[in-house]
This record gives sequence, C-alpha cells and structure tokens, in this order.
Amino acid sequence: MGRLDDRVAVVTGAGRGIGRATAIRLASDGAAVVVNDIDLEPAAETAGLIVAQGGRAIPHSANTVHMEQAERLVADAIEEFGQLDIVINNAGTTRDKMFHGLDDELFDFVVDTNLRTAYHATLAAMPYLRDVAKSEIAEHGGPRYHRKVVFTSSVAALMGNPGQFNYTAAKGALIAVTKTLARELGPFGINVNAVAPGFVETRLTAAKKEGDNFGIPDQMRDMARAIISLGRLGEPEDVANVTAFLASSDSDFVSGVTIPVTGGQLGGM
Ligand SMILES: NC(=O)c1ccc[n+]([C@@H]2O[C@H](COP(=O)([O-])OP(=O)(O)OC[C@H]3O[C@@H](n4cnc5c(N)ncnc54)[C@H](O)[C@@H]3O)[C@@H](O)[C@H]2O)c1
Repeated sequence: MGRLDDRVAVVTGAGRGIGRATAIRLASDGAAVVVNDIDLEPAAETAGLIVAQGGRAIPHSANTVHMEQAERLVADAIEEFGQLDIVINNAGTTRDKMFHGLDDELFDFVVDTNLRTAYHATLAAMPYLRDVAKSEIAEHGGPRYHRKVVFTSSVAALMGNPGQFNYTAAKGALIAVTKTLARELGPFGINVNAVAPGFVETRLTAAKKEGDNFGIPDQMRDMARAIISLGRLGEPEDVANVTAFLASSDSDFVSGVTIPVTGGQLGGM
C-alpha cells in the first residue's frame, strides 16, 4: 500500500529537475501522475521512467501560462485517470537582471512562468478539487479525503536576492496566495501549502556559461555551500520528499504554510 494509492496528481514543470523528482516520488507512493512540461520530450522521459517502475503516468505539454491550455491539461487528466486530487505547481524559471536593467519583457516572462502558470493550473482544477468536495460534503457531511495544492516558492523570496526582482515578485506572491487559498479552500478539505527550496542542483543553479539564460556564477555556488548548515547543496529529491508529504494524508492538518527546504541555510531558513 502506498500512501497515494488511488490519488491522481498533476505536476507542472516535471520534465526536469525538482518537478521530475517529485513526479517520480508521487508515483512511487502510488499516485497516477500527469507529467506536465512545455518541453514534451523530457516530460515523456519522466513518464517513461515512472511506467518502467510499474507506475501510472502520461506526459502533457500544456503551457499553463494560457488558461485554455490549463483547462486542457486538467481535462486530459480526467479523461485518462477519471479524477484529480493533487496539483503540484512546480513550473518556474529565472531570468536574472539587476533592477536598474530590468524591462517589461523579462518581468512578464518570469512572473508568467512562476505565478500565472500556478494560478491557471490551480484555477482549472477547481471543478475537480472544490466542486467534487462540495458535493461530497452535501452528500456525506464531509469530503471523502483531503485534496492538495502545493506551490513552489523559493528561499529567494524569504531572504531577497539581488538580480531577482522579477523572480522574487512571483515567488513572494506564491507565499501570499498559499495563505489566501488555504483559508478559502480549507472548508472543502483542500490543503494549500508551499515549499521554498534553497539551493538545489538543477540547470537553474548550474555554473553559468556564456550565453546561458539561467545558471549562476561559480562564486555564488561556493557562497551557497558556505551558508548551508548541513554542508551540501540540495538534490531535487530533497524537495520531492517534502512535497510528497504535503501531497499525502500525513499533512492533513497542515495548511497555509511555506516550508523552507534549504538544508538550514543561514542557520534556520
Ligand atoms: N533549483 C533551485 O535551487 C530552486 C530553488 C528555489 C526554487 N526553485 C523552483 O523550483 C521549481 C523547479 O525548478 P528546477 O530547479 O527544477 O528547474 P528546471 O529548469 O530544472 O526545471 C523546470 C522545468 O519547468 C519547465 N517549464 C518552464 N516553464 C514552463 C511552463 N510555462 N509550463 C510548464 N513547464 C514549464 C521547464 O521546461 C523545465 O523542465 C521552479 O519553480 C523553481 O523556481 C528552484
């Protein structure tokens, strides 16, 4: 028995990095997973890894910046697996620029990718999270089980980070909407929480090469290692473990919180 047997999850941005590790972890706990990524090939690879381990998964290339694609993502999840219980909003990216050089294009792209994707994917899921719970409450006096929404913030939003006005605008907003939605959806047995990863080894934090859109300078990687109490950079699985907890009934009495997953950056963050 897995703790997510009979649950269906959508994980956005699950072709790589933290999202891939999360999709694999949820599947190993028993969930059927819709592996969403704007890049279909890595999404199909993630789904293939899950199926090869005996799990259930399909890839999906919706870009939930657009509401109609978010609706298609949810509709296809329902068509394939018959229900939707867990939405993991993991899609995100960076385009760092010191504030004086920021422009609308960079601001909009980063806010859309980190915030609007989460807004739309969660909104599109409401008929299957909120409305289904509402009719269960009318029929049985309570929802059959808790449904879950998880957002992906960042330690950058907790501490601030030079060059990330656009990114921290979006990641800070995700902390705020986690609290708002937790209050709004709590009566329907829907838990809404967030993770705030610290420094996790993915392409976002790889050593930056000339011409790369993401990545960070080598000296920042060394600095990150120095301020992490546990003395190592995070792995995608470190975040996936916490997200899987938030997706499971083990966290049924936890809502509205953002959990830093940072290895104790600067002591406690
Ligand atoms: N790596 C870190 O240290 C770190 C720290 C804090 C927060 N985060 C957050 O964790 C999440 C995952 O980051 P990661 O490091 O695994 O990055 P990553 O680049 O390895 O993976 C992100 C995936 O999201 C996909 N994606 C981008 N835009 C999308 C969209 N509009 N719709 C669907 N998929 C989309 C990308 O194609 C990519 O496969 C992001 O929200 C990121 O901001 C990461």
